[in-house]
Amino acid sequence: MPFLTKDAVQDFDDVVFARRTRYGGTPLSRENLAALLWRTAYCLQDQPLDQRIHAKRKPVISAGARHPIDIIVIERSPSMDLSTKLYDDLNHSLLTLDIASGAVRPLWDMASMAAKGTCSTLCWFVAQVGKTAGKYEWPDSLIWRDAGALLQQFSLVSHALSLGCVPLGPTGNPGIDDIFRSNGTLFGVGGCFVSELQA
Ligand SMILES: Cc1cc2nc3c(=O)[nH]c(=O)nc-3n(C[C@H](O)[C@H](O)[C@H](O)COP(=O)(O)O)c2cc1C
Repeated sequence: MPFLTKDAVQDFDDVVFARRTRYGGTPLSRENLAALLWRTAYCLQDQPLDQRIHAKRKPVISAGARHPIDIIVIERSPSMDLSTKLYDDLNHSLLTLDIASGAVRPLWDMASMAAKGTCSTLCWFVAQVGKTAGKYEWPDSLIWRDAGALLQQFSLVSHALSLGCVPLGPTGNPGIDDIFRSNGTLFGVGGCFVSELQA
């Protein structure tokens, strides 16, 4: 693996040391959303271990390479309707989910309040506990650390792309289980607003 050039390290330093939480802004263009998801959640390699469990390689670290966290993208239309999409990490595409606007409104409102009124593009992290539990006896703490790593990646990549990012404290529970009627197999592990900022 080649070493980075000094210029590349300087560019990396520029991102690492200037990164900040930035509020406000407008929803992401499709192009910037794609650029962000590509560098945070795209699956570079997918290795099925059995019928259910896969080991994946992604830009972020994950305990046991299980990558249990899916990204849900929630956007608000000019008429204030909320649409929910799932990032397909294998095909680098968004799948529209059949979820009523009203079902995600409490999550949106709570997130926006936590982000000082920011109402841009909401990326929520939804964990499939079974993926990590398939390998480890006590999966919760590992999943939370995966969530922290993912949040940091969103924050750094957003900055590199000149986008705003507000990490969020609410976990999304019990809302996520209600929205997906998952019987406890899915739970929210936080998320962030990402935004286009004025130059
Ligand atoms: C786990 C976590 C939860 C956070 N929750 C919120 C939040 O709910 N609202 C908010 O405005 N900022 C939130 N933040 C952002 C922090 O307040 C912010 O990172 C901190 O003030 C340092 O500022 P900086 O990101 O600009 O360096 C959160 C950050 C983390 C890591």
